[in-house]
Amino acid sequence: MVDQMRILSGMRPTGRFHLGNYLGAAKNWVELQKQYECFFFVADYHALTTEPDGHKAEDKVFDLAADLIAVGIDPKRSVLYLQSKVPEVAELTLLLSMVTPLSWVQRVPTFKEMAKQHPDNVNLGLFSYPILQGADILMVKGVGVPVGKDQLAHLELVREVTRKFNRTYAPVFPEPRALLTETNLIKGTDGKKRMSKSVGNIIGVTDEPEVIRKQVLSMVTDVKRPLKTDPGHPRTCNVCAYYKLFFNDWEHYWELCRKAQIGCFDKKKLLAERLIELFGPFREARAELSPELVNTILDEGSEKAREVAHKTMVEVRKAVGLPSYLT
Ligand code: TRP
Repeated sequence: MVDQMRILSGMRPTGRFHLGNYLGAAKNWVELQKQYECFFFVADYHALTTEPDGHKAEDKVFDLAADLIAVGIDPKRSVLYLQSKVPEVAELTLLLSMVTPLSWVQRVPTFKEMAKQHPDNVNLGLFSYPILQGADILMVKGVGVPVGKDQLAHLELVREVTRKFNRTYAPVFPEPRALLTETNLIKGTDGKKRMSKSVGNIIGVTDEPEVIRKQVLSMVTDVKRPLKTDPGHPRTCNVCAYYKLFFNDWEHYWELCRKAQIGCFDKKKLLAERLIELFGPFREARAELSPELVNTILDEGSEKAREVAHKTMVEVRKAVGLPSYLT
């Protein structure tokens, strides 16, 4: 049974799909699509805020779409589309920006962080990133927006802008709300930060076994255990945290670790093999996807999203007081 609430979420094509993307977002999307009408998209406009050369994103767009399909986003259930193939979102961004006080956007903490990360490219697009995000959501009248904690400030702003638009013109949009993804907060291979391509601490999902093996073997382990013969500290060891998350028999291994009956390196070797096995079906599904099929899925999804967007924009133009589109 498909529920009324329409779901929308997107992901930027910034690098290889990794375990953090899967556990933090895609896994939840796959569940949501069983119950709700879902729109998921590859946010290639958003990627331009930090990398203005769209050519560099081409492969990443394809990879992300293919990975999402491989891990279970089903184009028969969900609309999977490419953001820039629905250019109505750009017009809506413009119109939303007219009712958004500058001070509201200035408050958003992510802008300051991003500006610090990319000091040589602090552009207006980066500043209005959350407005584009709002347009993504409102364009399809999305109500439930699965996101991680880092996106909550954006969603709050989007809600305010939605109310302001509806107040200023007409009640065109339902007010969206964040569906906080309950992430298992695993850290990357450095054991310090959450997984991110730019930090370089990722573990792949659909990558070849040797890639995953290398990434897992590079994990920082128990720093308070210099020798294999020293007892380990599973509570604070990142590798043991992974065991708890992925192994039914994790307690057994925690105990072996505590008693110094298994070394950190052997623990990593075992983890790598288990993850490779666990992700096997994803890897196989990914290998079976032809580029033509992935592109067709994206095109068909984009067409559907565009139909919905167009309808919304007809309403929006009327509410704002703009002439209707040329036909
Ligand atoms: N900003 C989101 C992220 O970095 C991606 C995104 C773009 C998004 N537009 C969206 C998420 C709309 C939810 C809804 O993760």
